[in-house]
Amino acid sequence: MVRIAAGQETCRAATGYEIGSNEEAQMPRVKTTINGQEIEVERDRWALDVIREMGIEVPTLCHHPALAPYGACRLCVVEVTKRGSTWLATSCDLPIREGLSIRTDTEAVHRARRTALELLLAEAPEAEEIRRLARQMGLEHPRFAPRVEEGKCILCGLCVRVCRDLIGASAICFADRATDRQVTSPFDVNAEACVGCMACAAVCPTGAIEVVDDGYVRRIDPFSTELELLPCEVCGKPAVPAKLLPYLRAKVPDHVPVRALCPACRRAEAAAGLSVPSRTGGVSTAPTP
Ligand code: SF4
Ligand code: FES
Repeated sequence: MVRIAAGQETCRAATGYEIGSNEEAQMPRVKTTINGQEIEVERDRWALDVIREMGIEVPTLCHHPALAPYGACRLCVVEVTKRGSTWLATSCDLPIREGLSIRTDTEAVHRARRTALELLLAEAPEAEEIRRLARQMGLEHPRFAPRVEEGKCILCGLCVRVCRDLIGASAICFADRATDRQVTSPFDVNAEACVGCMACAAVCPTGAIEVVDDGYVRRIDPFSTELELLPCEVCGKPAVPAKLLPYLRAKVPDHVPVRALCPACRRAEAAAGLSVPSRTGGVSTAPTP
C-alpha cells in the first residue's frame, strides 16, 4: 500500500499524481531522468526549476520564482513516465520523485503547448507576449476565434498572488466565474489596501496592467484604483504614493530611512555616493521607494 508521508498530501492534492512508496518518502535525494539524462536531485524540487537548471528551455507565463506554483497557463507541460505509465503534466507544480522519466520535447508535449497557446490567444488577443510565443512556436492559424475582441489578461493570477503573498496587501482578487472571471479590485471600486507599489504591473506577463501617473495621482488600470503621490523631497516633482512610505517603513529596520524621492533624484543620490541632503534634513544611505 502506498503511504503518503507528511507534507505529501499537498503535492498530491495539487498535482493529482501518484507520489511514491514508503521507502521513497524517506529519500532526501532521488534519481530521475530528464530528456534521457539521469540526474540526482533533492526530492520534491519542482521539475521546472530542475529542467531549467539543466539549460533546457520551457515556456511559461504564470510562473514566478518568488511565488508558489499555480499551474494556470499550461505552457510548461512535459511528458512524464513512471512504471510504464505516461502522462502529461505541468512541470511548474510537478514535484520530482524517484524514477520519474521526464521529456520536454515529444510530439505530445508540443501539441499540448500549442493547444494551450491557442486558448490563451483566444483569451487575450492583444497580448504581445502571447503573440510572440505563437510566432516562436510557428502557430500561424490558431483554431479558436478570440473570445473577446480586445484584452490582454490570461487570468494567470500572478498579480493577485504577488499582491497577496509577497506584498501582503491583497488589493486585487479574482471575481466572477467561468467566462466572466476577471481580476479586479474588491467590489470593483478604488482598492483601499493598494499601496501603489506597482508589483502587479511588474509581474504581469502580458502587459494587462497599466500604471499611469497624472500629476499627483497614480492610476492603476484596470483596477479602478487611484493613489495620491507625494512630492519628491529634493525637486518637488510627483514621486511616491503616500501609502507606500508607511508600508516600507514597517518593512525595513528602524535605522534605515525611507524617503520620498523621484526616480531622477534617487539616481542622482546613488551617483553622488548616497549623499543628497533632503528638504527635511538628513542624509539617506538607504534604499528609497
Ligand atoms: S492582469 Fe496580468 S498578471 Fe494579472 S491575471 Fe491578468 S495576465 Fe495575469
Ligand atoms: S508555468 Fe506551469 S502552468 Fe503556467
